[in-house]
Amino acid sequence: MTKTPSKTVCIKTYGCQMNVYDAARMADVLAPLGYRPVTEPAEADMVLLNTCHIREKASEKVFSELGRLRQLRQVRIDRGLGRMVIGVAGCVAQAEGAELLARAPWVDLVLGPQTYHRLPEMLARLAREGGAQLDTDFPADPKFDHLPAPGPRGPSAFLSIQEGCDRFCTFCVVPYTRGAEVSRPAAAVLDEARALVDQGTTEITLLGQNVNAYHGDGPDDGAAWSLARLIRALAEIPGLTRLRYTTSHPRDLTDDLIAAHAEVPALMPFLHLPVQSGSDRILKAMNRGHTAEAYRRVVDRLRAARPDLALSSDFIVGFPGETEADFQDTLSLVRAVHFVQAYSFKYSPRPGTPAAARPGQVPDPIKGERLARLQEVLNTQQSLFNRQCVGQEMDVLLDRVGRRPGQLLGRSPWMQPVHVSAPAAILGRSCRVLIVDGQPNSLAGRLVTPATEPPSADADAAPAAAPTPTRIPA
Ligand code: SAH
Ligand code: SF4
Ligand code: F3S
Repeated sequence: MTKTPSKTVCIKTYGCQMNVYDAARMADVLAPLGYRPVTEPAEADMVLLNTCHIREKASEKVFSELGRLRQLRQVRIDRGLGRMVIGVAGCVAQAEGAELLARAPWVDLVLGPQTYHRLPEMLARLAREGGAQLDTDFPADPKFDHLPAPGPRGPSAFLSIQEGCDRFCTFCVVPYTRGAEVSRPAAAVLDEARALVDQGTTEITLLGQNVNAYHGDGPDDGAAWSLARLIRALAEIPGLTRLRYTTSHPRDLTDDLIAAHAEVPALMPFLHLPVQSGSDRILKAMNRGHTAEAYRRVVDRLRAARPDLALSSDFIVGFPGETEADFQDTLSLVRAVHFVQAYSFKYSPRPGTPAAARPGQVPDPIKGERLARLQEVLNTQQSLFNRQCVGQEMDVLLDRVGRRPGQLLGRSPWMQPVHVSAPAAILGRSCRVLIVDGQPNSLAGRLVTPATEPPSADADAAPAAAPTPTRIPA
């Protein structure tokens, strides 16, 4: 085989973790064509914007970025560096397709989340024929069957196991941009997990838009596996010490999944469980399929199974028809449940979704004011949890170099970023850390003993108690 010349690709990712996973998979697809990933668009022979359509702001960012890339392309041409290929991938590409090309005709490639395995063919056609290439199909055979084995991802990796969504919450574009819910076969997931672990990954976060609705074909008789069954099988892989999954829907939190939280030590005690609103009226209008009370019951059952489980959530304020009383219900739910982390958003009307056309759209200043009030409560809860961790010992997976010299950064079991003074040689290891400071957004800790080393004879035998999130007095 002739050696392919080295070219550079910059993939800029917006949006959710699934886009982060897709970006890494696109790099896997492009590697055999000789493309080496770079972080700066100015250094790239090809720039792919991996876009998000979830809110208007996210979506509009793409067009300002495309304007900048057009100028950058000209600069590269003027300097004799060749013509940069500009591509748009992800959910904006899927949603806007041809309109995107009409608005930004200098774009070469438009490809959706389900067609990036076809990048080599698209690039070949572009080289052969010129002109923009568009592929936003929902192919009958899933992309996963055509993707190469994953490259090295480092200590912590994402793994998409389910994609698309059949829930049709009335505010959400995902069912339209990602398509119908499809689960990958369990054997394919296990193979990909083993390939990641063989290359040094010790933590895997399973991804799906509605991941706990996972029902992939089982490896033996073809009978579907639930997420809980998959988690139990993954936990058997030697060297895979941490498992997480996201994003889950409160409606699909089954008994067997709750039992897995009690019984599978590798399953981390942190769960992102979006609730969106605490008002039953609004939850109904959102088509979420559960009440605030049902959400609280699920949380109670999870905490009974795993008492140190910490929760995070997503909230939307200013959904059409939301009154001050509805918003107060959201604040009450937050105070009752206690979240250690949260994402909260002003409702953004999205083209083609049912809620966008509804009466009772909430004026922006009211949305802004509610968002500020909600975030104040959520931030207080997060800060309190972080302060409560001070004095505790916990395992931290040190997966990044910190900003200060001699500092490594990792994640606690509860997803908090933890700064630790530590030698670079232990980067990538899970270490026992004593937490000495708790800031609103991160913790600082001191190394106790590298957790991956056998404990020394005089090591303190008593395991430290895990912090349990407490409730803020209402
Ligand atoms: N599948 C996940 C959410 C995916 S989108 C779930 O079911 O919860 C991530 C978050 O974006 C959502 O939880 C919601 O809080 C927010 N979001 C989605 N559509 C939105 C919109 N139109 N306006 C504002 N926020 C939105
Ligand atoms: Fe969107 Fe609802 Fe599906 Fe989540 S469950 S992706 S919010 S439609
Ligand atoms: Fe955005 Fe698509 Fe994810 S719309 S949130 S990138 S599924």
